[in-house]
Amino acid sequence: MPRVTFHYSGQIKTVEAETGQTLLQIALDHGIPMEHACGGNGFCTTCMCKVKQGIENLSPRNDREENMGVIEDPDRLSCQAQVENDVEVEVIEY
Ligand code: FES
Repeated sequence: MPRVTFHYSGQIKTVEAETGQTLLQIALDHGIPMEHACGGNGFCTTCMCKVKQGIENLSPRNDREENMGVIEDPDRLSCQAQVENDVEVEVIEY
């Protein structure tokens, strides 16, 4: 079971997730604030996060991320990146 560590608002929280869940789903399920203006459809970038560790444990970058210009590590769209194993991310706050 993947473990996901979120850095946000000066806090660090590690939670367990199901393989295949997106970072956005996991964050919201655990009360971690994460913007998602487009509803998790890959059309905004407000859910963008910076992956601190384990970027290889996320699903490959997809077309929606590329269309939104999220093309360089460590940036990923949390609503598109699915966890496959342990990962540590920093939530971007606006
Ligand atoms: S919530 Fe809009 S791109 Fe992820």
